[in-house]
Amino acid sequence: MAAVSHDLVVIGAGPGGYIAAIRAAQLGLNAACIDENPELGGTCLRVGCIPSKALLESTHRFHAAKHDLAAHGVQTGEVSFDLGAMLKRKDKIVGSLTRGVASLFKKYGVTRYTGRGRLDGAGKIVVEGADSVTLSAKHIILATGSAPAPLPGVQTDGDRIGGSTEALSWPEVPGRLVVIGAGYIGLELGSVWARLGAKVTVLEYLDRILPGMDSEISRESLKIFKKQGIEFRLSTKVTGAKVDGAQCIVDVAGGEPIACHRVLLCVGRRPNTAGLGLDTVGIELDKAGRVPVDHHWTTSAAGVYAIGDLVQGPMLAHKAEEEGAACVEAIVTGFGHVNYDAIPGVVYTHPEAASVGRSEDDLAAAGIPYKVGKALYFPNGRAKALDETDGFVKILAHKDTDRVLGVHILGAQAGDLIAEAAAAINFGATAEDLARTSHAHPSLAEVMKEAALAAYDKPLNS
Ligand code: NAI
Repeated sequence: MAAVSHDLVVIGAGPGGYIAAIRAAQLGLNAACIDENPELGGTCLRVGCIPSKALLESTHRFHAAKHDLAAHGVQTGEVSFDLGAMLKRKDKIVGSLTRGVASLFKKYGVTRYTGRGRLDGAGKIVVEGADSVTLSAKHIILATGSAPAPLPGVQTDGDRIGGSTEALSWPEVPGRLVVIGAGYIGLELGSVWARLGAKVTVLEYLDRILPGMDSEISRESLKIFKKQGIEFRLSTKVTGAKVDGAQCIVDVAGGEPIACHRVLLCVGRRPNTAGLGLDTVGIELDKAGRVPVDHHWTTSAAGVYAIGDLVQGPMLAHKAEEEGAACVEAIVTGFGHVNYDAIPGVVYTHPEAASVGRSEDDLAAAGIPYKVGKALYFPNGRAKALDETDGFVKILAHKDTDRVLGVHILGAQAGDLIAEAAAAINFGATAEDLARTSHAHPSLAEVMKEAALAAYDKPLNS
């Protein structure tokens, strides 16, 4: 049967892939997108960013109703939760967003194929699944994302010992939960279940949590999470885990085995490259199992591009989106750019932790002279009204030019506040530019202004 021809085909309908397909259609290409899952949106929409945020919000509200509302003079009586209703609400949000991607495909005229896509030589893709078809395309973008990395000795069973997908749908609160890895997933999903009453122990191989973040954020957030009742064992190497009757047993080097009801394994993710047919076009992976690309996301095979978790850089949905749009723009116009210095990272715990640009550790290691402007949430009027006085904003600016190089926030709504910092870095702003920008009063954004004042000259309110 003759191949169906498109200008551009994307394999993978996660945030990188579906944005690339829509952008291609917007720019006049005959675009198609393949995904084996009938629900579009990839890990992020189906079993990642979105459902975890839904559960973080529900459990935060439960926790706040139980512990914090009395301070506001709100009397609630006995507060309880309905886990089934929380899970249903989460599923409803996911459903509405995945259907939203399908309707965007319709709106922009992106052809959708349901099945597994694989390369089959230059310019050819085979789809196998609900749709079985051979496609040909001048441009092929690989956007198949990543999957949880396994850990030697840890015997996952897709239920009691599993990853983030399972931990988003447990039907009951585990009495005792062991989390392996104190990264993004461990802290977010550890928080969800701790708020509902699980006794959570986080085992981390390194001597710190959140290894990608500024070390001051790691230290200060660790203190806060401990106060919330989460137990941490740092510098702890997990050597195995298995289900043993009614319990799970987790083995750690040089320590007693830990018995628990469930185990969440979250020690990073690895690119999904198996079965993609990379060998049919001569693409070889790098040492970390990623697809090597140049600055326009071109691979070693002509007409084949790769973006998102498949390629170098942080495994973040919004980084993949930027790459998806820029890759297509480069194909169509010859120009496409992502500013990798201005990609924020947010951990949606309570309080949130957010970072963009360089950390102090980075700058010191690179020998770049910098100055620090720091402001606490504590004196801020809005923070007091919200009863959210834990945390700080730290701005790192070049010592000589005052240009903002990095911003790190621990505190309420850090994930929203960081957008201003990302824009500042993207526009090459100085700390003075931020300090001389009017920030609404009273707002948490004033903590950013105060930190900028501290970096550029002197703070006015602290
Ligand atoms: P991660 O890379 O954030 O953290 C993994 C942690 O596991 C690290 O602290 C690492 O030192 C530790 N670890 C590694 N091997 C270990 C061992 N043998 N024993 C104990 N600890 C060990 O990875 P995570 O949390 O699995 O998340 C995966 C990806 O998903 C990340 O790249 C992250 O960017 C992304 N993500 C982003 C979110 C967000 O933007 N809010 C939320 C959830 C995930």
